[in-house]
Formats: sequence, C-alpha cells, structure tokens
Amino acid sequence: MAKANRVYPKKVPVSKNQEVEAEVIDITYQGMGVIKIDSFPIFVVDAIPGETIRVVVTKVLKNYAFGRVIKRVTVSPDRVSDVDQVAITTGIAPLANLKYDAQLKFKQRQIEQLFKKVNVPVTVAPTIGMTNPTAYRNKAQVPVQMIDGQLTTGFYRRGSHKLVPVDNFYIQDPKVDEAVRVTRDILRDYNVSAYDEHTKKGVVRHIMARRGYYSHELMVVIVTNTKRLPEAEEIADKLRAKLPELKSFIHNINNHDTNVIMGDWNETIWGADDIHDQLMGKDFVIGPNSFYQVNPQTTSVLYTLAAKKAGLKATDTVVDAYSGIGTITLSVADQVKKVYGVEVIEGAVADAEKNAHNNHIGNVEFVLADAPEQMVKWANEGLKPDVVFVDPPRKGLTSELIEAVSTMAPETFVYISCNPATLARDAVEILANGYVIDGDIQPLDQFPQTTHIESVTVFKRGVKS
Ligand SMILES: C[S@@+](CC[C@H](N)C(=O)[O-])C[C@H]1O[C@@H](n2cnc3c(N)ncnc32)[C@H](O)[C@@H]1O
Repeated sequence: MAKANRVYPKKVPVSKNQEVEAEVIDITYQGMGVIKIDSFPIFVVDAIPGETIRVVVTKVLKNYAFGRVIKRVTVSPDRVSDVDQVAITTGIAPLANLKYDAQLKFKQRQIEQLFKKVNVPVTVAPTIGMTNPTAYRNKAQVPVQMIDGQLTTGFYRRGSHKLVPVDNFYIQDPKVDEAVRVTRDILRDYNVSAYDEHTKKGVVRHIMARRGYYSHELMVVIVTNTKRLPEAEEIADKLRAKLPELKSFIHNINNHDTNVIMGDWNETIWGADDIHDQLMGKDFVIGPNSFYQVNPQTTSVLYTLAAKKAGLKATDTVVDAYSGIGTITLSVADQVKKVYGVEVIEGAVADAEKNAHNNHIGNVEFVLADAPEQMVKWANEGLKPDVVFVDPPRKGLTSELIEAVSTMAPETFVYISCNPATLARDAVEILANGYVIDGDIQPLDQFPQTTHIESVTVFKRGVKS
C-alpha cells in the first residue's frame, strides 16, 4: 500500500529576540537583505549581499522572519557609507545604501532571475543608468499627518502608515521638495488640519507637486477628505508669493476609504488647469490626474530606444496601448503612417488630444477605453497594425489583450514594462501565441535608488507553438 504523503509542519529555526549571524546572500524586491538560517529566510533592512551581519530577530512568521542589524561584522565594498538613513528606513530610496553600479547590476539580475523562474531563456543587457542618479523625480505625492499637534509631511515607515517627517526626499527634484515644504508651512499658518485615517476627521490627506523638467512650470495639488479647502484663496496668494514657478494650484477631493491618492474631482483654485513640459521636441499638457513618467531625463532615452528597436517605417500602422497623455504615440507619429492610442483615464485622453493638436500632429487617434477591451474590438474590426507598443501599469497585460494582439498579428510587439515579474509572466503567454523574443531585454534605470525596474522587450512574430 502506498504511503499517504503527509505534510509535516516545517520547524521554524529562529525565535523572536534571538540573535543570529550570517552572510547576506540576496536583496528582495523591497530592497531588504536576505540571510538564511537552516534555509529559513530572514529579511533585514539595510543589509547588502556579501556582508556578514549580526541580527536580532524582530518578527517570526511561518515561512520567513524579519530581523534588525545589531552589528555589521564585514562591510560590503558596494556599500555607500554616508547615506541618509531615513531614505532607507522609510523605503523612499531602499537601494540608496548600494553603490550605483551595483544597483544597475541588481536590476539586470532581477530580470534574469524572473525569466529563469518561468523557464524562458533570455539575454538581459546591462542596465542603462543615469549620470546623476539623485534628485530626478518630477513629482511628489506626500502623505500628511498631525504629529504633536502640527500638520506634518513625510513618508510612511516601511509596511506601516506611521509617518516619518521628511523634508528632503533625496530622489525628488529639490524644487518639488521645496513646493511641498512651502505648502505644508502655509497650511500650518492657517491651522488647516491633516486627515486622520482612524477617526476619519480632519482635512488634508496628501500634497502633490509636479514640476516640468524643461518648462519649470509647477503644479501644486492639495488633496482633501473634505469638500472644502479652508482659506483656499489665501493659501493660493501665499503659494504664488513663495513659489514663483507656480502655474497651477488645484484642490482635489478624495473622500473614499482607499489607498488611491487622488480623487476624481478637481477645482483649479488659481492659475491653469494643467502644466506643460517638453519631451523629445514635443510639448505636453499634463493634468493633475494624468500619468506622466516621473524621470523625464531617462524617458526620452527609453522612448528613443523603444522606437529604434521597433524599426518603424513610414508605411507603418501602429497601436500604442496604455497611451496616457500620448507621449509614445506622439513621439513616434512623424515616423509612421498612423498611430492609435488607447487609455482608460478620461483626463489623460483629453490631454493626449490637446497634445496632438498643439504639436500639429494629425495622424493619430485616441480612444477612451479599457485597453484589453479596445484591443479585442480592433482585432474584431480587422485592424492590422505593423507594430504594437504596450506600456501597462505594474499589473501587466491580460490574456485577453495578448490574444487580441496575436489576432491582429503585428510583425513587432514592443513591451515597455515597469514590473519584470508581470513581464516574465506575460512573456510566457506571448511566446505561446506565436512570438519570439528579438535580441536582448534592455533594462533602463527610470527609478534610481529604488528597486523599481523599467525595461524594453521586443517580440517578433514567429511560429505558433
Ligand atoms: C505606465 S503608464 C504609461 C503611459 C504612457 N505610455 C507614458 O509613458 O506616459 C500606464 C497607463 O495605463 C493607463 N491604464 C491603466 N489601466 C488601463 C486600462 N485598463 N486600459 C487602458 N489604460 C489603462 C494608466 O492610466 C496610465 O496612463
């Protein structure tokens, strides 16, 4: 008689408050070092591969534990010594303790490992990095809480909603940081309260600031839980006096019990409804709810590379799925016959249409729709693009969209990804739908000092397996 396969509970080899010593063997996607005790992983903030660390175990779960460094027995040559600890402990810049070259290698290796897990052989090129990999973010969305009776801006401590006060965000444009501090101080002057998630009382939830890298136009948005922003006009006057670059001051209401930062309702208190910035020689209007790449310096490198890899021709019909305010659509439009964009946020489509008009680009069409639904619709209508670009959010593509692309059968399918885990998952399905990966996957560092990884993968139509 065959023995029943019993699953015995695995013995957890560590307990809370125990001290252990081990070598850091990896970094997680959250930027934590990994040590193992009898194959049991312990995740540790501010620990770099190659370092031997003494750790006190702070929390034990069934399959892993967390620990805190009490002594660094050996220090990695890849460690940056003078880094601001708040950047690490909050997770604003969880890789800031790692030399930049090592960060770029970590990102290349992450993609390699994720493709290995799904058994897809690929070559990943070295990550293209930035010359100055700090102070690059053009946008901040900063949470607000009352601390010691004072409205305070900062960042949540890792894995919590406990606010750590922060003035300098290290990876943000210093002018964006300044706009947040100035707005916070004015709100303090007018005794405007912060919203409290527990009591559901108070006013301000977030301050958002975005600044055009080339245009220097600044937008400040105060997101409130309440319908009214007290002293709105007075706040506008003070902001204008203190922030000469201010072009747009907006009140946004978000009274939903949600982690989504911006609500759907905006009122322009002062100035324009949007700001402009330039990218690859084109002018773009950017509204408060529209996605715009946060690293304008590397975005043009990314799009130039994606267009080059696509091998665009003047006779091509192109689809740009998840088109946002039309940055990819409009940057390739003058190289091809026609581009169709599809995007789900109404304001972003309105911006995209304005952007086409302002840049005198006539061979583009934007559709407000769910991208998978619209791709199925186009496929059913017999649209046959030569090239499809996709640039989805972190959750990646759907089977529906991949099948629609396979029906439309473009020669070239360019996948711009901000999450290699969903890219690898989707690649399996894209390959099963008759495509092959063309050349190397190219990572590009859109988000230095963080664990986020952007990459471009080109699929070419091959033989269906
Ligand atoms: C990573 S952004 C890329 C935007 C644009 N390509 C760019 O680089 O500026 C992803 C975009 O997908 C949009 N989006 C999210 N879910 C969508 C869906 N189901 N259908 C269409 N667009 C969607 C977001 O609003 C966002 O503009």
